[in-house]
Amino acid sequence: TTERTLILLKPDAVERALRGEILRRIEAKGYTIVALAQRTATAEELAAHYAEHEGKPFYAPLVEYMAASPLVAVVAEGERVIEGFRSLAGTTDPTTAAPGTIRGDLGRQWDAPVLQNLVHGSDSPESAAREIAIWFPELG
Ligand code: CMP
Repeated sequence: TTERTLILLKPDAVERALRGEILRRIEAKGYTIVALAQRTATAEELAAHYAEHEGKPFYAPLVEYMAASPLVAVVAEGERVIEGFRSLAGTTDPTTAAPGTIRGDLGRQWDAPVLQNLVHGSDSPESAAREIAIWFPELG
């Protein structure tokens, strides 16, 4: 069934001018971009988005990294796009993410207390609905 997912092109993707390359992969896969916005994330957006990670050792550096410079929030639509985008993205650690994936091909290891891995994608329909409401309240 057609569904929607929330994707973030994180600040490292914007700083490295990889927006076009990442959006190209999303569109080349056949997904439709239905909303797109570049802005610097607010503390409120990040607290809501990363609520599940609160208390973890990388939480503070994660929020700092995500708020340091602009990111691009995207809603993409397609058949099984939630699972499909996570497959395109690759696993969390960019050093070991499979070649062929966004993180595997483009991600690099930084000397930082948090893994900087270019993109976020919702992990379930429930997360997608919650995250779309955070970044694009107008889409409900
Ligand atoms: P993501 O999976 O999009 O959302 C949580 C983020 O926290 C993850 O990307 C990484 O950027 C970061 N992260 C997750 N696990 C670790 C870890 N073990 N060490 C450092 N950073 C992490």
